[in-house]
Formats: sequence, structure tokens, C-alpha cells
Amino acid sequence: MLCIVVHGGAKTISEEKVEANHAGCTAAAEAGWAVLISGGTAAESVEAAIRVFETDQTFNAGFGATLNSDGEVELDAAIMEGSLCWGGVAAVQGVRHPISVARKIMDDKPRLLVAEGAKRFATECGAEMCRKEALVADEQKQQWKEDQKVSDRPNTVVCVALDKSGTLVAGTSTGGTTHQQAGRVGDSAVVGCGLYADGKIGACSTTGNGESIIPVVLAKTAIDFLNGDRHPEEAAQMAIAALKSKVEGEAGCIILG
Ligand code: GLY
Repeated sequence: MLCIVVHGGAKTISEEKVEANHAGCTAAAEAGWAVLISGGTAAESVEAAIRVFETDQTFNAGFGATLNSDGEVELDAAIMEGSLCWGGVAAVQGVRHPISVARKIMDDKPRLLVAEGAKRFATECGAEMCRKEALVADEQKQQWKEDQKVSDRPNTVVCVALDKSGTLVAGTSTGGTTHQQAGRVGDSAVVGCGLYADGKIGACSTTGNGESIIPVVLAKTAIDFLNGDRHPEEAAQMAIAALKSKVEGEAGCIILG
């Protein structure tokens, strides 16, 4: 059995942006699915799907991500395999596809690299680099200038996939929250919070407010709810209910059992 699930980000979106969000999610899922049906791995599939989100300014990842307090794009991304291998980058600039850098880290040795160190690693391993300004979309710049407090930007883009070998993978990519303090890192690159994958149990990626997701360790909490053969949908609902009972804020998660 092959499977891929994507999410374009938890947040209320305005009516005129619904179509672009649906189209982008479909394109991402199709890119990941094409990898799976041609025999690719779940990690390759998750990377391919999230790369689509990272090039589409509809989504808060890669080009067009939301701007921080300095008016700059700072990106977080991570990937985790059921083998418990993982890799992540946080607060990185000038990298077009942070999910690909996270995957290179996972394939090298698991760790979380941040800021300049992450950028240096990305350069050394041949990732696609750019000027940090090249990731700023005009719409985001305009919104930032207007100092809009309430954003309708969807949050973190996420993906989970299962390949023909039975390997489960979870991935995340985000520009964080609008006007976030420069240097802030949310849940997305933090294993257990933004993502978790455990062997034959399941894989989970989360989207929403990092400050709410981190204290309830949402992704690991959701995977724990899968124990005892609970259906992934029920586990997801229980995880979000647990979050709502303990903290303020919005979040969502996708799970593959
Ligand atoms: N979930 C994205 C963030 O809070 O940074």
C-alpha cells in the first residue's frame, strides 16, 4: 500500500484564496504520489511534495513565506523517518528548499542546524541557494509594511507518506508566524512537536501555532494515541482535543497509521 497526505497549513483563509490553496495542495500531493508510484522512497516523496509548496507563494514555506520582525524570510523545515532518523534546519536564510537540506542532514547524521551553520551546510552540500531577498514575495512585503496584525496566511505545510517498503516519513516546512521575532523557532523543526515517525506505528506532522504545539509535544502525543490500533483520524482528534484542553491557539495534524 502506498499513501501520501499533505496539508497546506492550519489557518483561516479568505474566500478568494481557497482555489489557489486547493490547487497547490493537489499539485504537492501529485508530485509526492508520482515519486511513490515510480518506486521512490517515502522520504523522496515527502521532499518532492514539500518542494512544490516551497515554490508556491500561496503557502507559508520557501518563496513567499511570511516575514519576521526584520521584514525577512527565516525558514524552518524537518523530516523524520520511521527508523527514528531525522534532520532539521531552523532560522535559515537564502535557501530555496529547506526541506531538501533537512533531508540531506537526515541522510548525513541526525541533527538540527540553525541560522548561519545551516546555511553553510546547505552551501557545502550543493543545495539551491539564493539571496535572502529573493524569497520575499511582493504581497508579503506589502502586508509587512502595513503592519497587519491578523494574517490569513496558512501556517506550516506538512506531508506524511508511506512507501512500498512500509517506511513511514513525516515532513514539515514553514516561514513561522507573521512578524515573529527574528531568531524565533517554532515547532516545525522540533522532533516530537512538529513531526514524529515511529516504525510500524505511524507518522504525524503538525501545523499551527508553535507556542501551543511545543508544550503539548503534539506530534508524539498523536502517535502515542495510535497505540492499540486506534484509527488515525480518532488519534488526530484526540491529540487536538488534548491541545485545546491545555493551551490556547490553533493547530492541526495529519497522521498515517
Ligand atoms: N508551526 C509553525 C510555527 O509556529 O513556527
